[in-house]
Amino acid sequence: MAEGDHTTMAEQSIPQLNLPQFPESYWLASTNVPNFPKLTQDIKVDVAIVGAGISGITTAYLLSKQGLKVALIEAGQLLTGTTGHTTAKITAQHDLIYDEFISHFGKEQTKHYYEANAEALQFIKKTIQEHQISCDFTEEDAYVYTNSDEQVNKITAEFEAYEALGIPGSYVDQTPLPFQTKAAVVMPNQARFNPVAYLTFLVNQIIKQGGQIYEYTEAINVEKGNLAAVITSNGYKITCGHVVSCSHFPFIDGWSFYFARMYAERSYVLGVRTNKDYPGGMYISAEDPKRSLRSATVNGEQFILIGGENHKTGQGICTIKHYEALKLFGEEHFGLKEIAYRWSAQDLTTLDKLPYIGRTSADTPNILVATGYKKWGMTTGTAAALLIEKMVTRKESPYEELFDPGRFHADPSIKTFIVQNADVAKHFITGKLEMIHKLPEDLGNDEGSVVKVNGNRAGAYRDQQGQLHMVDTTCTHMGCEVEWNHGERTWDCPCHGSRFSYKGEVLEGPAKRPLKIIEA
Ligand code: FES
Repeated sequence: MAEGDHTTMAEQSIPQLNLPQFPESYWLASTNVPNFPKLTQDIKVDVAIVGAGISGITTAYLLSKQGLKVALIEAGQLLTGTTGHTTAKITAQHDLIYDEFISHFGKEQTKHYYEANAEALQFIKKTIQEHQISCDFTEEDAYVYTNSDEQVNKITAEFEAYEALGIPGSYVDQTPLPFQTKAAVVMPNQARFNPVAYLTFLVNQIIKQGGQIYEYTEAINVEKGNLAAVITSNGYKITCGHVVSCSHFPFIDGWSFYFARMYAERSYVLGVRTNKDYPGGMYISAEDPKRSLRSATVNGEQFILIGGENHKTGQGICTIKHYEALKLFGEEHFGLKEIAYRWSAQDLTTLDKLPYIGRTSADTPNILVATGYKKWGMTTGTAAALLIEKMVTRKESPYEELFDPGRFHADPSIKTFIVQNADVAKHFITGKLEMIHKLPEDLGNDEGSVVKVNGNRAGAYRDQQGQLHMVDTTCTHMGCEVEWNHGERTWDCPCHGSRFSYKGEVLEGPAKRPLKIIEA
């Protein structure tokens, strides 16, 4: 290395393959998802479902199959949220959780967690087989592996938890991966698929079963009562017996303070062609930075999906660097021929890491919510739909208490609550005090940054054609300062994870109002 050259050996070895300039999910790129109209009148149904990702679509499918009249509404286009940007592993192996859950919730409830997710996997498998849905569904063993001595004990404890709970599994030193591992815990017969292809089939079934679907229809409020109603941003009303919020961040936050009971993380995926063949299996590292691996069949060819690099939304390094880190990992272990896709997802984690699924409160038994799947929404989103179907049709479920959104476990909820809200306070203050030197005129094409305009903090992005777009960086949720995300060309809030387009439009809540536009 020449004197004065500060490039590290690792950076020097990054091959000259470029990342795709813009993010695109393979699931969305490869599937024709049908379009639906906006809601343009008041309607009355049995169940109004808000949010068309895996839980909303599966709930609408199950309830319309039972003969109930359902309306499913989505603020944007179907499946373009987290479900369209997942790694789509269908597994009850959610990283290392069973040992931790036993210590917090006891053996019986932890077993319920496993069973709810194992049943969700079986439901997906059975539905695909019954209807012969073409969605690249493949059974695979799932591994949590480690290369770190410190994590070996945790893998051992996790395997002991499997044994205590009767979960099929094994402990191994070495996995089929082309690099050494120190230990891994294996859960056999899990699966992977193309979630958008699978859910597009369910969407078509909802329509055949008499359901209604509306896109670009944003729910902004709910009226309580035996006959409840969802109010949309364009002033229409869906009167219904039950309301189900599956909108990722619940649209009905008014009385539940979900923004203080969950935190948002982003993670990244590359879809690559490689020199080395993939050995089969689905993998996730126990240690950070997370590395997740699975394969997918793209136009008859084998691709590897390399995921990981999660961080709190709006916090951390330039987001392109996360994709670069995954690229380096892929090159090192598999040799990259092509990086065809890159995309990222946002996930919500609750205070105790269990999803919130069920009645929003005892006073509003007909208003239900499903959120906080951590990063495992394929099974927990399906488990949520199966539970909500039971609750709406008044059948009992052993999982009601476990997922009750009103629960508060002293440990770990209090600790997590304090840490999360101290983090919010820190970012609120840091954003206000930050010194800014950059000016809008310093930005090149396709560059965004926080800038100084008339002495105040503002957000600016100069698009590829050279047009400048400026916004007020004060988040419309609770006033934190948003940060630029160059990987996605969005403004992301470090406090509760709201995200806005470079033009200020809301992409993810809890914020409901757009960022204020500043005239260039
Ligand atoms: Fe809460 Fe921005 S998301 S202040």
